Amino acid sequence: MKNSNPILSMRNITKIFSGKVRANDAVNLDVHPGEIHALLGENGAGKTTLMNILSGYYRADEGEIFMHGKPVLFKSPRQAIENGIGMVHQHFMLVPQHTVAENIALGLKGLPFVFPLRIIEGRLREFVSKYDLSIEPGARIWQLSVGERQKVEIIKVLIRGARVLILDEPTSVLTPEEIDRLFRILKKMKAEGKAIIFITHKLGEVLEISDYITILRKGRVAASLPSSAIAQKEEKAKAELALKMVGREVILDVKKKHVNLGDAVLEVKDLLILNDRGSEAVKGISFSVRRGEIFGIVGVAGNGQGPLVEAITGHRPISGGGCTVTGEIGYIPEDRLNMGSVPDLTIAENSILTQYRNSCFSGHLFLNLPSIQEWAKKLIAMFNIMASGVNTPAKQLSGGNLQRLILARELSRNSSLLIAEQPTHGLDVGSIEYVWKSILEQRKNAGILLVSGDLSEALALCDRIGVMYHGKVTIFTGPFSNKIEKIGLKMIGM
Ligand SMILES: Nc1ncnc2c1ncn2[C@@H]1O[C@H](COP(=O)(O)OP(=O)(O)OP(=O)(O)O)[C@@H](O)[C@H]1O
Ligand SMILES: [Mg+2]
Repeated sequence: MKNSNPILSMRNITKIFSGKVRANDAVNLDVHPGEIHALLGENGAGKTTLMNILSGYYRADEGEIFMHGKPVLFKSPRQAIENGIGMVHQHFMLVPQHTVAENIALGLKGLPFVFPLRIIEGRLREFVSKYDLSIEPGARIWQLSVGERQKVEIIKVLIRGARVLILDEPTSVLTPEEIDRLFRILKKMKAEGKAIIFITHKLGEVLEISDYITILRKGRVAASLPSSAIAQKEEKAKAELALKMVGREVILDVKKKHVNLGDAVLEVKDLLILNDRGSEAVKGISFSVRRGEIFGIVGVAGNGQGPLVEAITGHRPISGGGCTVTGEIGYIPEDRLNMGSVPDLTIAENSILTQYRNSCFSGHLFLNLPSIQEWAKKLIAMFNIMASGVNTPAKQLSGGNLQRLILARELSRNSSLLIAEQPTHGLDVGSIEYVWKSILEQRKNAGILLVSGDLSEALALCDRIGVMYHGKVTIFTGPFSNKIEKIGLKMIGM
C-alpha cells in the first residue's frame, strides 16, 4: 500500500484550545487508498481533535492538509465532505425524533424542496444491497439500537460520496456480531480503494483489521508503523501497543480480595417487562444482588438487558413480578453523553448532578459553590481526569475523560446498589485497569450489578454471572475457569 501515493497527508498539525491545551502538536499523518489506518492513544491524547480538523469541524492553528498531493483548506464540514472526507463521530449526531430517511436527507444537496422520501429510500436501498447495511428508512432514530444508529451514520457519510471514512471509536458501542458486520463493510470499502481511519481502544481490533498504525501521546505522534511490524503473538503485540500508548506497562490482572456478603440490596422476582413495541423483553426472571458481590449481566445486546436496567432504575414500568431496591442506586449509564451528563454544564456542576440535594452542596436556597468546586477538584485528582479546570463545560472533555467524570461521581456516592453499564467502554487500557480496581473496591460497601458486553471483563470481576438470552436469565456461580465455554454457548442460546 505504501508504494501508492497517499490520498491524504496531514503535515505539522497543531491545535491549541483556550490558549493552553495543546491537543495536537505538530502531527503528521499519511493515509493511502485501500488502507485501514488505526489511530490509537490514551484518553485525551488528541485523536478526536485531529479528526475534527480533518473533517472540517475545527481549524488547525498550524499545519497543512493535502489531498492527492494538493493543499486543501476546509472551512466547514461541508467542504471536507465535498473533498470526499466523511466522519462518523464518537457521539452520534442524529436527530432522535426524525426518521432514518430524514436524518440521511439532512444537508444532502440536490434534493427537491418537498421532502423526497422516495428518492432517499431508493438511494438507501442501493447501499443496503451493496454493503449489507439493512435498515428501515421510516424508523425513528430514538427507536433504534446504538448499532443501528451507527449504520445510519455510516450510510449518511457514504451517500455523500466519501473516499476517506473516519470512524471515531465505532466499536465501543457494538455487540461482537455487529462488530463482525462492521468489519465486513470496512473490508468491502477497502477493496474499493477507499481509505479508512479507525480510532479504537481495543487492541485486538487493531491487530485484526488495521494495515497501518499511528499512536498519539499527549498530542504528539509517539509511533507510526505498519501493522506487520508489531509482534506476531497477540498478547505480546497488545503489550507492545499499550506500552507505546501509555508509556508504561499495563497489567490487566485482577486480584480479588475476599469480601463478606451482606444483605440483599436488589431483589428481582418473576420480573416481566415490555419493550417499546409492547412485546415481552424480560420474561419473568428472578435473581438478587447482595452487598459485597458483583453480579454480572452478560449477553448479546438486545436480549433484555436494556429494559431490565431501565426497570430497576425506574425508567420503565414493570408489567409483572417485583423489583425491590434497598437504599440508593448509583448508576453509570451506557449512554454517558445524554443519560450520564449535561454537556453544557461545567465539570463542577456535573460532578454533583445526582447528589445536589446533599447538605454538603446545598443550603436552604442556594447551592454551595465553593464546596462543589472543592469536590470536583477532588474527583479530578482521584480519577486522573484531564481537564483544564472545574469550570470548563463537560462537553469539552475528551470522550474517555467525560466517562471518568461520571464514574467518579457515581462511585463516590456511597449508594448501596451500583449499576454499571459497560463501565469501561471507550476507556484506554490504563484507565480500564483503574476502573476495575475501583469497582472491586466499591463492593466492600455496595452490591454491584455489572452489565457488560465484554465477557472477559465480566469473568474477571464478577462473583456470579447471569447470561441473558431472549428475556430469560441463566445464572452461573464463580470461579468460572471451567465454565467459560458453557457461558459462551448460553449467550447464543445453546
Ligand atoms: N472544544 C474543546 N475545547 C477545549 N478543550 C478541548 C476541546 N476539545 C478537546 N479538548 C481537549 O483536547 C484534548 C484532546 O482531546 P480529544 O478529544 O482529542 O482526545 P481523544 O484522544 O479523542 O480522547 P478519548 O480517547 O478520551 O476520546 C483534551 O485535553 C480535551 O479536553
Ligand atoms: Mg475521542
